[in-house]
Amino acid sequence: MASKKVQIKKAVFPVAGLGTRFLPATKANPKEMLTIVDKPLIQYAAEEAIAAGVEELIFVTSSSKRAIEDHFDKNFEMETELERKGKTQLLEVLRNVVPKGVSCVYVRQPEALGLGHAVLCARPVVGDEPFAVILADDLIDGGDTPCMAQMASAFAYNRCSLLGVEQVPREETEKYGIVQSDEITPGLSRVSSIVEKPKPADAPTTLAVVGRYILTPRIFDLLETIPKGAGGEVQLTDAIAALLKEEQVLAYEFKGQRYDCGSKLGYLRATVEYALQHPELSQDFLDYLHQRFGENGDKIAQLVKQAG
Ligand code: UTP
Repeated sequence: MASKKVQIKKAVFPVAGLGTRFLPATKANPKEMLTIVDKPLIQYAAEEAIAAGVEELIFVTSSSKRAIEDHFDKNFEMETELERKGKTQLLEVLRNVVPKGVSCVYVRQPEALGLGHAVLCARPVVGDEPFAVILADDLIDGGDTPCMAQMASAFAYNRCSLLGVEQVPREETEKYGIVQSDEITPGLSRVSSIVEKPKPADAPTTLAVVGRYILTPRIFDLLETIPKGAGGEVQLTDAIAALLKEEQVLAYEFKGQRYDCGSKLGYLRATVEYALQHPELSQDFLDYLHQRFGENGDKIAQLVKQAG
């Protein structure tokens, strides 16, 4: 069973993937530094963790991801310049990238050997306590209660591993870990099996794991011992399949809208949707949509919202 600690204090951000679907943008820039309007994906992910009470952000990086470390570091020159010009609002934005009381740790994944391997690289920093995993390219707009905060509440009550899940169209099961589970209460179910990227015809259900996890530290032992799985990579899904033979693992259907920003279409949808919500931008952007698409502008904004 889970350790007695009920609050999740550490979050792991695996950011060592190659991001090939976004080439050439990701040739020298990390995928997680792609911006949705004016904020990089990785900052949305960090903010979500912090809103859930996380105090230590653990980034599993690679040699080409230096920009992430720079983003969360102090930019002394820029701060001095903004201070000199009296741009206090922007200064505040800059200083709040890492709020007080939150620290950042960077661990290297020497080779992109898979998501499971990336999570295992964080073991020395996480230690023996339950922790969150957030994949920044799954951007989730959870409204008033961000996705990880919802999951942290469910963890405090259930004290076991939790997987963020949502229903996906059957033709897309090949992109996800797919779970079979028994409902406990609406939106929360006990996982009985999990399979990585099944073909639509073979998928047992259409309940897909997205990039949000709370895991007990037992996962590390399992990640160390499981054989390499699909694509010759150490698959987190395989370790979870082993975990659920020993411990309860729950599937949590979060409330909110997810955007798959690892794909170009999902990224564009998120950009449009977040622009429509942006306090400084929304009206001008809506005006642009009207100019560009005539009276269909409103309809387009609505469609984007529905499509997610
Ligand atoms: P993806 O499957 O999206 O792979 O990884 P990717 O390399 O980032 O992107 P594509 O498919 O080539 O475009 C899911 C998550 O796991 C991390 C990625 O950074 C991403 O957040 N990851 C994946 C690692 O940290 N290390 C790995 O070895 C593999």
